[in-house]
Amino acid sequence: MKKGFKKIDGIKKVPGPRAKEWVKRDEHVISKSYTRSYPLVAESGEGVYVTDVDQFEYLDFTSGLGTCVTGHCHPDIVKVIADQAKKLIHVSGTDFYYTSQIQLAEEVASLMPGKEPQRVFFSNSGTEANEAAMKLARFGSKRQQFIAFQGAFHGRTMGSLSLTGSKIVQRQSFSPLVPGVTHVPYPNCYRCPINLKYPSCEIACVDFIKDEVFRTTVPPEEVAAIFVEPIQGEGGYIVPPVDYFKKLKKLADTFGILLVTDEVQSGSGRTGKFLAIEHFNVVPDIVTLAKGIASGMPLGITVSKASLMTWGPGAHASTFGGHPISCVASLKTLELLKKGLMDNAAAVGNYILGRLDQMKDKHRLIGDVRGIGLMIGIELVKDKETKEKAIEERNGVIQACFQKGLMVVGCGQNTVRFIPPLVITKEDADIALALFEESLTEIEKKPAKLKEVV
Ligand SMILES: Cc1ncc(COP(=O)(O)O)c(C=O)c1O
Repeated sequence: MKKGFKKIDGIKKVPGPRAKEWVKRDEHVISKSYTRSYPLVAESGEGVYVTDVDQFEYLDFTSGLGTCVTGHCHPDIVKVIADQAKKLIHVSGTDFYYTSQIQLAEEVASLMPGKEPQRVFFSNSGTEANEAAMKLARFGSKRQQFIAFQGAFHGRTMGSLSLTGSKIVQRQSFSPLVPGVTHVPYPNCYRCPINLKYPSCEIACVDFIKDEVFRTTVPPEEVAAIFVEPIQGEGGYIVPPVDYFKKLKKLADTFGILLVTDEVQSGSGRTGKFLAIEHFNVVPDIVTLAKGIASGMPLGITVSKASLMTWGPGAHASTFGGHPISCVASLKTLELLKKGLMDNAAAVGNYILGRLDQMKDKHRLIGDVRGIGLMIGIELVKDKETKEKAIEERNGVIQACFQKGLMVVGCGQNTVRFIPPLVITKEDADIALALFEESLTEIEKKPAKLKEVV
């Protein structure tokens, strides 16, 4: 725990006067498309804490939307960034060589599951990593179509947006998107899309793809790849049943379809293993990474079997992709993950999940608690029987947490996500859980009328 962290006490202290001023200036000049949940104007960060421009402190359970896995301004990360900035800021990896990019590719390739040799393509973000995966899948398979999932989020550039099926506002007015993407139901056992029960369903949602989608709409021999998040992130932190991906991979293999796992949010050690798909014992053909992979520096990575990444010079590239500063930050991040942060994610994650499970029995609003490691979702419902979504209440809880000094954001329509930096201690977790429970209790007593956070 940071020395002297004090809960923001009292009513409506935040935002403070400076934050209010900055928010006003922002309103005049910044694109209205951003989705700020509350007026937090950050000034500095240390470990799992963020300080705003009025010097209010917050416990950060968002990690810069999953990016700051080693915590804010980890001294080892700051040092390699500063050292690299003094030596060489940039020389494009598209045209020249530099050692950190090669070292990082070797390191990432060695972390991939399976025995096949791997190759690595570098970009700057999650959406770009997925664009590269789409192009590679088409290039390698000589096929055109894709399967993606309802509720999926893969990014907002045209290709990735075509795979995204999360919120209509993300797609509205942007058609025509890249043709050839068909969305199928994600395995959500809390709200089964085909109204069955696990395990007696025998994972019928995979059979649905084979027996319905491939029979009626999409010829499987035209499908280049299935894009899937091992844990659906923006869609609500949904964890598929443990044998789901084995069955999905078998289906893909039957028809020569590539399996692409988007680990942009679930990867980089967050679930206690480097990739979330490792919990399901499946080896994907292509993996995409971004967010936490470079501790908050921009970096996108697309990794595939070397036998697939056979495209020639000029087929795909990026001026800034695999930037030298991002590469050294990423190498250090991987070192810290292996030296204990992944184990910590598993241990503290289990602890938080256990505490939330106990809370679930005491609180009428908690319908479901799920997650692996430090990727945790708490789905709020108005009624545990009908599972009616508690959308306003979820938004109210997020606002109440902010007022008390806990940064959380939502996912899906009615889920609160816990996605703290992997350096978190049980002590910090206890503070966060207490602030969360207080906020929940407050909303349970007096449901707030708040706009939906988009
Ligand atoms: C699973 C997943 N894929 C892709 C993206 C897009 O990443 P970026 O915002 O870096 O483009 C996100 C972002 O939230 C994500 O969660």
